[in-house]
Amino acid sequence: MNFPQTRLRRMRYNTILRNMVSETKVSVDDLILPLFVCPGKGVRKPISSMPGNYQLSIDLLVEECKKTVAAGVKAVLLFGIPESKDETGEVACSLDSIVQKAIIAIKKEIQDIFIVADVCNCEYTTHGHCGTIVDGDVDNDLTLKTLAAQSLSLAQAGADMIAPSDMMDGRVAAIREILDLNGFEKTPIMSYSAKYASGFYGPFREAAESAPKFGNRSTYQMNPANSNEAMREIEQDIVEGADIVMVKPALSYLDIIYRAKHEFNMPVAAYNVSGEFSMVKAAGANNWIDEKRVMMEIITSIKRAGADIIITYHAVEIANILKEQNA
Ligand code: PBG
Repeated sequence: MNFPQTRLRRMRYNTILRNMVSETKVSVDDLILPLFVCPGKGVRKPISSMPGNYQLSIDLLVEECKKTVAAGVKAVLLFGIPESKDETGEVACSLDSIVQKAIIAIKKEIQDIFIVADVCNCEYTTHGHCGTIVDGDVDNDLTLKTLAAQSLSLAQAGADMIAPSDMMDGRVAAIREILDLNGFEKTPIMSYSAKYASGFYGPFREAAESAPKFGNRSTYQMNPANSNEAMREIEQDIVEGADIVMVKPALSYLDIIYRAKHEFNMPVAAYNVSGEFSMVKAAGANNWIDEKRVMMEIITSIKRAGADIIITYHAVEIANILKEQNA
């Protein structure tokens, strides 16, 4: 049928009907909130480039997790700022390491929370790279050893899911193997499968104190120009045993999210990263955009592209808006 029989606006006049035919719905069940844990007691250090986000000592992190769960967001992704760093990231591989201690403390006080542990070395190495350096570059196979050791100890501390973000070849297989050998065959792996070498990680590197001291991450993170290569990365991770595949960042990579969802029958996560968050906050603070409206539009677009899970620093704000809408 053509106009005038067909009028697409007919479905837009009534709010109830408009909601009924809405093709994409964001739910709090989709959201994961990233949090940063640091040493000390009573520490709540603001991250200047990420308004509303803090480095929290374990005691205050536990309180933050309680508030997060009360707001309806049941999953958190933990990053650690260690007391001291070393050459290989071994400081992150024991039950005494910062994130492991945090997980133990959270699990002691909160039952209904799902803890995802990021696995990487950049927060823990003196040079700020994601792996062990040999001849001026990150050595892939040596790095697999620390990634596996870090993953095992995070699982032992009680992590509900392991999320490797290093982009080494073979890490999912190495992590799956060590988890299975030690009785953690039920612990899922959410792999940062298609992780791009992105300028949007800037604020995070302030938050996690993880900027590389020399060079950049382009020999291991992906070239933003590539899409077919992302499909190969995802396929490889699935073969190695990944349970969830991730695309990161989200906004400049909606096409990658879309392809990932349609080419593989897998749960897809998208990471709405720090720079994407900070741009919205900065423009909102200047009243250049309607911050809440833009935030919801962005999250909806990530979901519409095909993401099942969205990792976002906006998680609690979104949960509050969804609650208002349903009230
Ligand atoms: C660690 C890691 C990074 C992010 C998540 N895990 C930074 C990086 O690769 O430099 C970025 C998250 C964000 O920007 O919000 N490798």
